[in-house]
Order: sequence, then structure tokens, then C-alpha cells
Amino acid sequence: MEDLETLRAEVIAAVEKAPDLTALDEVRVGALGKKGRVTALMKSLGGMDPETRKQAGQAMNRVKDAVAQAIEARRAALEAAELNARLARERVDVTLPVRPETAGTIHPISQTWDEVVAIFAQMGFAVAEGPDIEDDFHNFTALNFPPEHPAREMHDTFFLPERPDGTRHLLRTHTSPVQVRTMRGEAPPIRILVPGRTYRSDSDMTHTPMFHQFEGLVIDRTTHMGHLKGCLSEFVEAYFEVDSVPMRFRPSFFPFTEPSAEVDIGCSRQGGELRIGAGDDWLEILGCGMVHPNVLKACGLDPEVYQGFAFGMGLERIAMLKYGIPDLRTFFESDLRWLRHYGFAALDVPTLHGGLGR
Ligand code: PHE
Repeated sequence: MEDLETLRAEVIAAVEKAPDLTALDEVRVGALGKKGRVTALMKSLGGMDPETRKQAGQAMNRVKDAVAQAIEARRAALEAAELNARLARERVDVTLPVRPETAGTIHPISQTWDEVVAIFAQMGFAVAEGPDIEDDFHNFTALNFPPEHPAREMHDTFFLPERPDGTRHLLRTHTSPVQVRTMRGEAPPIRILVPGRTYRSDSDMTHTPMFHQFEGLVIDRTTHMGHLKGCLSEFVEAYFEVDSVPMRFRPSFFPFTEPSAEVDIGCSRQGGELRIGAGDDWLEILGCGMVHPNVLKACGLDPEVYQGFAFGMGLERIAMLKYGIPDLRTFFESDLRWLRHYGFAALDVPTLHGGLGR
């Protein structure tokens, strides 16, 4: 009995001193494991006479239970301490000011792209796209450019190397081939806006070999030039964010439209500052017209039944006008100072009700 008390006191003292869970487990094995001290004592019961064994057995069981309880209590305490230590260690101070990360900006091309799409989406135009590498049929022939016609030269086309069958693919010189792809692929009514990259071999203050265009196409049974004018004036006012903009159609020529027009909007240029919507000066912003019957025919549409309009404009050009960017080439130089100056807040998606550009 004396021994039992000493054993109990020693084991429980060791349990309470165990500094961590591993040490505690060692103590447990040392006492209650197969070769543990308490287990060894229990084994000695076998050699006792029945009366002594009954008494000693009860006493040993009490010791065993006490030791087990002490171990459980210590384990709970150690686990709680460990959790608290971890919570303290991994604490995040959410009140700290954010680190000064360098925030990126939205490139004026992306911004203008989103603005124009938002405006035409509101008018029910769906966005359509086509490949940058085109063939002669979609870029020229179906658009009523006669073979060997100088209008093909007008575009300063980039041709790809000749193929075994003698044809040459090219980098599309305008977004108009997507008109052809759409008309050949879907039945009217058609109402699409085609934003995209275009290419011409040209480079100066107002020309870069790669630039962007927006093409609009509407085909239906009764679509007429009044609708074209209405759409464009709606667009111009929404885009330049002015209540009313004088607009005039100047007769022009494109092989794929008849009649064709160039559209000017009213502006003033006092003191070198361009202001849209005011004054008595004019500024050319886009080309447009009624889709030529030959184009409709090339796309499998009966010109006696269907008609419509198309327009095309340069994305960089309207961005330059709205945001006062003087040199087209700077769009593509990736100069960070330029991007910080002309860039737009990220995640600030242009919408008509929320405002287009900030
Ligand atoms: N594709 C013409 C160009 O690039 C623009 C245009 C499109 C004109 C549609 C009229 C109609 O110059």
C-alpha cells in the first residue's frame, strides 16, 4: 500500500510537469503502457491470495483511474495552451494600413473599347469577332472590291507569303470582313458591333501598322439611313458625354457601301484646345453607308428583301479625341509614365448609368 501511494504521487507529479504533449505521452506509456509501472503492479495481482487480491485490485484500479484522469486533464490543458499560442502567433492585425502596392491602370484602348461596347450594347448590338488573318475573299472580294482595283492598294495591305495554290492570306486591313462572316453565318435581323485589331503598312503621328477599329452592321428589311444617323448621333453624344453634338454626313466612297458618307461632328479648336459639341468647326470621326447590294449578294442575301447600314471607326482616334492624347504611337510604346497619366482606375467598368470614364 505504501508503494502504491508513492507510485501514484510520482506518476501524477510527472504528468503535471510534462512540458508538452510528447513528454506527456512518454509519461503515459511509462505508467499505463504494456511495460508501464502501473501495468506491472496489476500483473503482480496474479500471485496473491483471493482476499488480498480483491483489496489490492481495488486500490490499484483507483490509482490507475487517478493517473488516467490526471493525464487527460494535462492533455486538455496542453492542447488549449498550444492553441492559444498559435492564435497569438498567427494573429493578423487587420487595422494595419495597407502596404503601398503599385496599382496598375487600364490602358486607354481597353477603356475606350469597353465604353463603346457599353453604348452599343444598350442599343441592342451584339459583339462579333473574326480572325486577324484573313483571306482575299473576306477582306476584299466579298466587300465589292473589284479584282486589281486600286482600292486594294489604298489599304497598304500586309500580305503573308504565297501558298502552294497561289493564294495569299493577309492581315485584315479593316474589321469589315466580319460583316461578311456574320451575314454568311446568320439570318437577319443582324445587329452587331465588331471591335478588333486591324493592320496597314503605315507609320506616322496618326498611323501605326496595327490599330483598332469598331465596325457596326445592321441588316433588316426596312433599315434605312435615318436609322444609321440616329444610331451614330446617339453614340456620339453618349461617348463624348455631351447633350447634343452637331453632326453632318459628307458624301464619300467605299466599295462596300452605297451611298457612302464620312461623318463629321461639330467642335471648336480655340487656343489649341479641342472641344466636341461646341463651335463652328468640323471633325471627321468615321465612315459609313448603306450596305452595297453586291455585298448582300456575295453574302447570300437578296438585296430586294434586305438592306442595312454599316459604319467603321478608329478606336485610337476616338480615344485621342476624347482624352486629348496627341500622338497615336504612344499607345503602343508601353511607357509607364504615359500609362499612369492616361490610364484608368482598374475594376471601374464603364456603364452608361455609372459613368463611362473616370
Ligand atoms: N472599312 C472602312 C475602313 O476601314 C470603314 C467603313 C466601315 C466604312 C463600314 C463604311 C462602312 O476605312
